[in-house]
Amino acid sequence: MVALPCLRPSLRPRALVTLGWELLAGSTAPEQVSRFTDEVGVYLKRSTVLFVPSARQGLRLLLRALGLGRHDEVLLPALTYPAVPAVLRELGITPVFVELLPGTLSLDPSRLAAARTARTKVVLATHLAGLPHALGDLADFCSANKLILLEDCAQAFGATYDARPVGSFGLAAIFSLATTKAFTALGGGLLVTDEAALGAALLESCVGLPRQTRSEALPLLGKAAMLTVATSSLVFPIVARGLELGDRLGIDLVDGLLREREAGLGRALHLHRPHPAFAGFASRQLGDFPSRLRRRRHVWHELRDRLHGVPGLGLPALDPRAGFSAASFPVFVEDKRGFRSRLRRSGVDSSAGFIEAFSDGCPEAQKTLDQLVFLPIYEELGERELELLVRAVRTALA
Ligand SMILES: Cc1ncc(COP(=O)(O)O)c(C=O)c1O
Repeated sequence: MVALPCLRPSLRPRALVTLGWELLAGSTAPEQVSRFTDEVGVYLKRSTVLFVPSARQGLRLLLRALGLGRHDEVLLPALTYPAVPAVLRELGITPVFVELLPGTLSLDPSRLAAARTARTKVVLATHLAGLPHALGDLADFCSANKLILLEDCAQAFGATYDARPVGSFGLAAIFSLATTKAFTALGGGLLVTDEAALGAALLESCVGLPRQTRSEALPLLGKAAMLTVATSSLVFPIVARGLELGDRLGIDLVDGLLREREAGLGRALHLHRPHPAFAGFASRQLGDFPSRLRRRRHVWHELRDRLHGVPGLGLPALDPRAGFSAASFPVFVEDKRGFRSRLRRSGVDSSAGFIEAFSDGCPEAQKTLDQLVFLPIYEELGERELELLVRAVRTALA
């Protein structure tokens, strides 16, 4: 039986074994971190790159280095990852949520002017689901209003706008390298900027953070290995049975495992800089990332073509200037719960996403979330899997 997990981490078993060996043998060197950040700098076209504990910690360091705090406001989309407004609030900054542009996962640039006040300091462009925001509009708005443009690229490593990498448009940007991301270091994040003085200040605040020890790093490797095995084509058909059973009992097991209960900054994992072995691991992943990205984009477009016109299915609008990270495949349906259950019965897992709508005064964001489902997408989706997926979607909507 073929069954498709919603997510299959971009991890090769051999890479995990090498990492495990390095961690156990203690054969890693701190220089691995600078080599990795230099390579990322070349890829993202940014002069300063820091390998930080997580994207949210990166954002926190960044906002502090910029001197933002009480009395300041940040404009961001009303649909986002909940840790982001939690970071702002922790620093006393007021998040001001901006309504979404219908049919997209991005804020509506025409609403920025009304949302802006004398206290607004930053616009946080958020490239949700690896779909780049129309950066030209945001950059124009920021420069006309003397605001700082920052980018939340947590879900968008590899995405481009006008053939330029996301993360190279604003003053600075954050990326998440969590295990479920298309480019991963099994944890940690990246904080990037071209601004020399800001880069130096960030570096200083970052070196003060403690580093993960080997005993903190090993469980992360174990978790990644478990996820790799559980989502492999051999084992997932069995896992899928369990998920379906959970579904019949009204329990979403994947959601239960992966959704963060605590959306703030509290967990130790997010306070420690990643172990240098993870930099070596990510550095090796970066080598073949461009070819994997090409393959994922090919699969993404193939799936989109085949789903185009399926009755009852909405696909996000495409911006011809945007290059996707193709790390997730969002669709819109009316009966989200029922659709996901019916997909599961056909052996296809999906995700409701781990983002939230901050919908006070933003009904479009709530409506988008109510209809949003993420379908499986990864490089290994071959002809047979694509066919199964498209058939399952059609059946679920019939
Ligand atoms: C849009 C967005 N921003 C920020 C984050 C936080 O990333 P991290 O878990 O590395 O702190 C995430 C996590 O997935 C995210 O999706």
